[in-house]
Amino acid sequence: MATWWRLCVCSLGILLLAPCSLSEKFSLIGSPHPVVGVVGQDVVLPCQLSPPARLSSMDVQWRKIDPGFILIHEYSDEGTQDLPGEGYRTRTELFLREFSRGNVSLKLKRLQVMDAGAYQCLVRNPEWTQEATTELQVAGVAPVFIDVLGPRGQGIGLICRSTGWFPKPELQWVGKNGQNLAMEIVTDVTQDREKLYSVVSHVTVTEGEDNGDISCIVRNGLLETERQSAIHLSGDVFPRVSPWLAAFWVMFTLGLIAAGACAYLGYTAKRKASQKKHSKEEAKLFYGRSPALSPIVSIEMCELGECLV
Ligand SMILES: *[C@@H]1O[C@H](CO)[C@@H](O)[C@H](O)[C@H]1NC(C)=O
Repeated sequence: MATWWRLCVCSLGILLLAPCSLSEKFSLIGSPHPVVGVVGQDVVLPCQLSPPARLSSMDVQWRKIDPGFILIHEYSDEGTQDLPGEGYRTRTELFLREFSRGNVSLKLKRLQVMDAGAYQCLVRNPEWTQEATTELQVAGVAPVFIDVLGPRGQGIGLICRSTGWFPKPELQWVGKNGQNLAMEIVTDVTQDREKLYSVVSHVTVTEGEDNGDISCIVRNGLLETERQSAIHLSGDVFPRVSPWLAAFWVMFTLGLIAAGACAYLGYTAKRKASQKKHSKEEAKLFYGRSPALSPIVSIEMCELGECLV
């Protein structure tokens, strides 16, 4: 009797639990790692039902979590609705044919820096709801250009520029031997309204061990990718002073010094002579114009120098 009763309870339990366990054995999986997309390209945000099958009367919603919850794309079996959210009109797509395999991933097209963030995929039917989160990181990479600005003092001025990086890139000038250039480098980084970074860097390369092949390397730390541009500077492009010109300037300077010295010596000699003459004349004048002057003065004057007649 007890056994019969036990069997009855058991069967009833199984009957009641069966529909629940059917849905409960499903789970929803996002991406365990952040997904990295590239600006301007498309990316797939993964979301997968496990086991790989579809639920009956299923709704799928993709939302961006930060800031708040923004509806990106919505699908519903009821009324067969498949709509992108406001502001994502032509940029989102679900793979409807993949639904039968439980694949409810979202394609996000023509990525922008602003798309970076956490996304949530929500799947539900009348008996079951679950959500999974996937993080999207966005990276930007762009071509690099070197231009020659021309002679700068004893060297050649170079400029390196690149626009369209994210996150903030690192710029490096490298010489032929793979070493960083030892010259003074001025690098400027700016960010535009779409949050993309531009880099501009100036360097003046002088003739020496660093000349030859010079590269400007810009590096994206997120993608661990770099872009570069190289230039070859032959020895001829450096401004050079010819030996004849150098000799001329040395001679010219020496000549100038010599001329200056002569002029100075001549001037001082002349001045001494004129001073002497002047004092003589003064004495003469003084003596001549004052006949009543005490003879002592004239005697004293005579004693000071040659006696004036
Ligand atoms: C889902 O389908 C898309 C498109 O075919 C594919 O790129 C993606 O890898 C699939 N996801 C999974 C988890 O299989």
